[in-house]
Amino acid sequence: MHDILVGFAKWLEGTPWGLMTRESVWAYPFVQLIHFTGLSIWLGTNFALDLRLLGVGSRRATAAQVAQELFAWNWIGFAIVLTGGFMLFSGIATAFIGNIAFQWKLGLFIPLALIWHVVVQRKARDWGQTSDTPGIARFAALTEILLWVCVITAAVQIPNH
Ligand code: HEM
Repeated sequence: MHDILVGFAKWLEGTPWGLMTRESVWAYPFVQLIHFTGLSIWLGTNFALDLRLLGVGSRRATAAQVAQELFAWNWIGFAIVLTGGFMLFSGIATAFIGNIAFQWKLGLFIPLALIWHVVVQRKARDWGQTSDTPGIARFAALTEILLWVCVITAAVQIPNH
């Protein structure tokens, strides 16, 4: 398994986008900008729904309406995060797969948070029918926020290149 991963990482480093991200002076910060722009949209829309489920802030829209209104932007944000993250990774993939913080981030926290998010987003249609949300919805929303904080905590430990 490890050999397959290393082989894949080496192949990525030799791709045109891997070479560009690594060798061009401006490409890496530009791709970081893409990753961070996507993160603002993705995490912003995630937290907006979570906070509504928690009952924090404006109650004009129900959680079900918030989930529906933000759905498209939420997944557009994720697509941008993924594109930027994949390109950052491609430039120095062998170094990243050997980094413990990156392993926690991608191998554990992101899969967990992502699955949790999909469940919360789907269940928000039922939980968010009325202005008040049930206890389970508040628990799920708080857990989602904590899971993304774990992802961010691992991410900021990844050395900058
Ligand atoms: C979806 C949730 C994600 C979150 C919340 C997230 C968050 C972050 C944050 C906050 C940083 C900045 C670290 C810093 O500069 O101090 C970062 C960097 C990075 N991310 Fe992500 N990320 C996500 C997804 C991904 C994915 C899917 C990939 C790879 C396929 C990825 C690859 C990277 C890499 C390689 C860096 C290091 C860039 C650097 O600072 O040099 N990320 N991420």
